[in-house]
Amino acid sequence: MSNDRVEIVEVGLRDGLQNEPSPVAPDRRANWFNRLVDAGLRRIEAGSFVSPKWVPQMANTDQVLGAIRRRDGVTAEVLVPNDQGLHLSLENGADVISVFTAASESFNRKNINCSIEQSIERFRPVVAGARSAGKPVRAYVSCVVGCPYEGPIQPGQVADVVEQLMALGVDEVSLGDTIGVARPREIHRLLDAVMPLVATDRLALHCHDTRGQAIANIHAALERGIRTFDSAVAGLGGCPYAHGATGNVATEDVLYLLAGEGLETGVDLNAVAALGNDICNRLNRANPSRVGRALAPS
Ligand code: HMG
Ligand code: MG
Repeated sequence: MSNDRVEIVEVGLRDGLQNEPSPVAPDRRANWFNRLVDAGLRRIEAGSFVSPKWVPQMANTDQVLGAIRRRDGVTAEVLVPNDQGLHLSLENGADVISVFTAASESFNRKNINCSIEQSIERFRPVVAGARSAGKPVRAYVSCVVGCPYEGPIQPGQVADVVEQLMALGVDEVSLGDTIGVARPREIHRLLDAVMPLVATDRLALHCHDTRGQAIANIHAALERGIRTFDSAVAGLGGCPYAHGATGNVATEDVLYLLAGEGLETGVDLNAVAALGNDICNRLNRANPSRVGRALAPS
């Protein structure tokens, strides 16, 4: 990836919809996926293969994968907590497998019902199985700056987990500010600890915008050379196991920042904004994206 190109990983249909009060039908999720592709997004989370008892909103991700239009260069990515999830992902043609753990023990227990150490052991066959099926593996680390149960998290705690994930052979690590507490200085300290362990082009930043700092944090990470960012159309999102976590940073807001920095994404901001406004109308919610609101038809 050249240094003036930025990759957006669109997480709204997973991180966003997993937190909506009512599930969205799989054909509608697939339709939104297709519109994201039409807008130029190339990496899009289609859902997750987790327990439907834990996250009912992500049930029927198999039907979403079955209904989307496939296009060269576009990856349909899914979250997978265990072997069962891996098998379902492979059966249903997911292109990227994302495992997920945390830098906080308490959060990990609430989210996937095991310790950090157990999660790493659980991922071992998942990563091996995905790689032997030729699928790239992303690994999320949640609570990289703060945890809703434990408070501040030290960069060294994150680095420990990242090191173990890299040793498993994951291709990419996404650093999640799950509850949106980070500020640029904390992002710099985090990156000081993690960048020696992972090549810069294999690191991503995943910001929630709970306290309005996400764009500042992304700018800080851009200064450090990070070029992959997770975001959600219309700032959809939150986390069912992180009370008070609002949505991910809005894709529209990130695209606006990046265009101003002269960075290429290949994504059409107006098309994403139009979709974001349609999704908010359909979900009967306000659009938290400032840029999305500015571009909404009056
Ligand atoms: P458990 O209850 O400990 O596991 O849950 P279990 O193995 O005893 O299974 C319980 C039931 O779930 C069984 O069904 C399994 O078959 C089923 P039953 O026999 O009771 O009918 N099950 C599954 N079903 C479908 N797909 C699967 C699967 N696995 C088991 N893969 C488990 C452990 C991990 C399954 C559960 O805790 C879980 O599903 N957690 C998911 C939580 C989640 O999705 N959280 C949100 C995503 S993470 C996030 O948002 C953060 C992120 O955005 C980054 C950031 O912001 O920081 C990524
Ligand atoms: Mg998230």
